[in-house]
Formats: sequence, structure tokens, C-alpha cells
Amino acid sequence: MRQEINVMRKQTYLAAVSDLHLDQDSNRLRDVLWSCEEYVESGVDHLILGGDLVSRIPFRRGFTKKGNSVLFAKAKQDLKAYGFYNSLATSIVPGNHDLHLLGILREQISAPGFLRHFKKLHESAMVTESYYPWVKLVGPVALIGIDSTSKTLGATGYIGNRQIWKISDILDRTDVRMRCPVLILHHSPLKRVKRRLKRLRDSEQFLKAIRGRVSVVLCGHTHVHGAYREQGVRVIHCSKDVIALLRIEGKDKIHLSFRAVKYEYT
Ligand SMILES: [Fe+2]
Repeated sequence: MRQEINVMRKQTYLAAVSDLHLDQDSNRLRDVLWSCEEYVESGVDHLILGGDLVSRIPFRRGFTKKGNSVLFAKAKQDLKAYGFYNSLATSIVPGNHDLHLLGILREQISAPGFLRHFKKLHESAMVTESYYPWVKLVGPVALIGIDSTSKTLGATGYIGNRQIWKISDILDRTDVRMRCPVLILHHSPLKRVKRRLKRLRDSEQFLKAIRGRVSVVLCGHTHVHGAYREQGVRVIHCSKDVIALLRIEGKDKIHLSFRAVKYEYT
């Protein structure tokens, strides 16, 4: 079990994927976990899931109102099987497909509700009364989880001033400043995201608040992997087909590589 990162180890590996869009027939998460084992001899220390873990479309084959809970349970089983079902081994943030706020055709799942579904993955996190952002200290890394789905019913992203202020407060903490602060959210803050429904509406305010203060931002939603820099902030787009592997060798000493997921089962 990956209960604790050995702080004496010279290298720490973070593996990040996003938008797995699991359905009842998909073993994508299992394949990601299997690939992590294959790629890193010494082991991936922490896995990051950047949202849209599931994909439930009303009226499609096999759709049931309780579908997301069933798929979340399946994902937990896979994480357990590979020793990743604990807070020090895995982090997750919600994507627009994971949540349903109206609850008419689908069960109602809010961002706090999503966190409660994955309570075990937040046990070591410092979670405020509003749930997001949370912060988790994982060896030399300070992971900060953000809900970018707030106040939006469609696929557009929004963080909100309250969360941005709290992110700023977290980045001021001594135990965060002495580590590599890594931000995780579903929507990309980059201007290059042109499609209206893919945009993070308050990306400008967000980037302004974190500029020069974070090591890297990990996100998904675009379904295309890539590494970018905007306003001095390093942003990595994660996808389902490629694992973004970050080797961390000290504060701001981060080496990034992309490895294809080996899809064995599907
Ligand atoms: Fe998405």
C-alpha cells in the first residue's frame, strides 16, 4: 500500500490523467493504474484524476438515475485493487460530467457531494466548511484541489472569488510555500481554449492570483494533452490516453514526460 511517501527519496512521481469518462463497460481506470506500474519502476507516488471520471448521458444504453454512484463504486474498487484507494496515494477533483445539479433525470450530485463520495481520498486533506479548495501535503508537494464547476450548469467552468481568495490564503501558508504547490482543477485557465463551452470564465482573475506562486497547474476538460505557459504559469492539460508523469526532485525542479496509456482490457 502506498500509505506514505518516503521523504528521503530523491524523486517523487506524480501521475495525472483526466476525462476517463467511465461507463459500465470501461476499464480505463484499471488500464491507467496498470500503466503506472509499468512505467515507473520505483512506483508512482501519487495519482491525480482531473475530473470527468464518469460519463452518463440520459437515455443512452444502460442509463439509470443512480448511474454515477454505481460508476464511482466501480472506480473505488479498481483503485483499491492497485493500492491507490487512500488519500496519500490519489487525489480527485470533480468535472462537469461527474455532477448533476438539477437531479431530474439523474441523481443530484453537487461538488461537496462528489467529495463525500470519495471521502477516503480526502482523509489527509485540510478541507474547509465549503469543501473547496482543499490542500493536501504529500511529501515535497502541496496539492490544492479546486472546484471549477461551481455556478455553472453546462460545460463552462467557473471558480468564483471566494475560492480564489482561499487559494491565495493557502499559497501564503509556510508549509505550502516550502513545498511545490500543484493546483488541480477540471477546466483549463488558458486563453487558447477557444470553444465557448470549454472556457473557464474567470481564468484571468485566477491566473492573476496564482502567478509566480505555484509550480504547476494540472487540468483536463479539453481531451487533448499538452504543456503550456501563460502569464508565467505552467499549465499541463491532461487527457485519458496519456499519463502526464511529473518527476519532482525538489522545489520547482519538475521534469515532465507524457506516456501513452496501455489499454489492455478494453
Ligand atoms: Fe469536462
